[in-house]
Amino acid sequence: MRSRYRLSLGAAGILVVALALAGCGGSTTDTLVIGEYGSLTGGDATFGQSTKAGVEVALDELIAQKQGKIGGMPVRVVVEDDQGRPEEAASVVQKLINQDRVIAVVGEVASSRSLAGGPICQLNGVPMISPSSTNPGVTQIGDFIFRMCYLDDFQGQVMARFTAQNLGLKRVAMLKDIKNDYSVALAQFFTGEFVKNGGTIEIEQSYQSGDQDYRAQLTAIKARNPQAIILPGYYTEAGLIGRQARELGLTIPIIGGDGWESEKLIEIGGEAMNGCYYANHWSLDQATPKLQAFLTAYRTKFKGDPDAIGGLAYDAATVLFRCMEQLATDDPATFAALGSSKAGTAARKAATRKLRDLIAATSGYEGATGSITLDENRNPKKPIVVIAVKGGKKVFETSIAP
Ligand code: PHE
Repeated sequence: MRSRYRLSLGAAGILVVALALAGCGGSTTDTLVIGEYGSLTGGDATFGQSTKAGVEVALDELIAQKQGKIGGMPVRVVVEDDQGRPEEAASVVQKLINQDRVIAVVGEVASSRSLAGGPICQLNGVPMISPSSTNPGVTQIGDFIFRMCYLDDFQGQVMARFTAQNLGLKRVAMLKDIKNDYSVALAQFFTGEFVKNGGTIEIEQSYQSGDQDYRAQLTAIKARNPQAIILPGYYTEAGLIGRQARELGLTIPIIGGDGWESEKLIEIGGEAMNGCYYANHWSLDQATPKLQAFLTAYRTKFKGDPDAIGGLAYDAATVLFRCMEQLATDDPATFAALGSSKAGTAARKAATRKLRDLIAATSGYEGATGSITLDENRNPKKPIVVIAVKGGKKVFETSIAP
């Protein structure tokens, strides 16, 4: 609205405002506003930056194919930085809903932040699609919350079997981030399955995201002589821990989950990461045609490779656009309320509920990160790719189907 008032300084502007108020110029102000929240800054800033990049590729596609419009209305994305803090995530989501009047939200990457922002979307009847939050609790918030990725019970199982069966390692150390919901739960899922596979956790140590010095924990771990370290945390800490482990003479493999996925992992960890493994959502050396097309668009725009979050965010935005298009076709009257500045609360709620229903029905969507069919709990089932770090490169190791 602010720009409208600025326009009204000129005679033409007054005319635009007058027409809009009279209900004749609806199409000049009606916009479909989508919210996006993520960590554009802070200790895991590549998470938010990759989300933003993936959504931008989806928007570029919409611009190229449909002039950036759905059902005749332009689509706009409002991006908020939560600095990687759950309290900030809650407050920016509230702002997106109250101030920007978003019709749907893409985000967050980190489970702790999705668990903070999700309840606000649920309460307001605004659909939220997390590209990559894997903690089971995220979609349990309620029926307006969706995700594009596998869950941590499966991820923990796969990591445990990979360690025990593929690598044949039975005695490990667990090093988890106790301030991170994802890390705490994934450690638990891993342990349950690992023990079933005849493994033992020789020692359990913890840290808090943002810590710099891990030598006390690593020294304690070294004293127990385990065959591997299980590190279900994020890339910044994984890189630092890798370096400090090698400095202390710990040469055993370190094994992580999808939280390691960032171009920064190897930048921070350097050679220390060679011989390590982590679970991921894709491997760029195993590209399907759909991934290949996304890679081409992404590389042209950003002159570099996306990480898996970029792909998952692209899929989240694309699924959302498709559902909006379907609503515009199936039920134009309801759809119109999504973009109209004049629609009342009841009409908007009815429209976002219909949008929710369409997202929930997502089935067989072929995305950059694979085929997505949402089950009755709004979760997809997707394979896990294990990545090996070799010679400073991420290499496909194996893929495990759900
Ligand atoms: N799965 C992680 C979480 O739930 C987030 C993440 C996904 C990080 C993908 C990196 C890549 O917290």
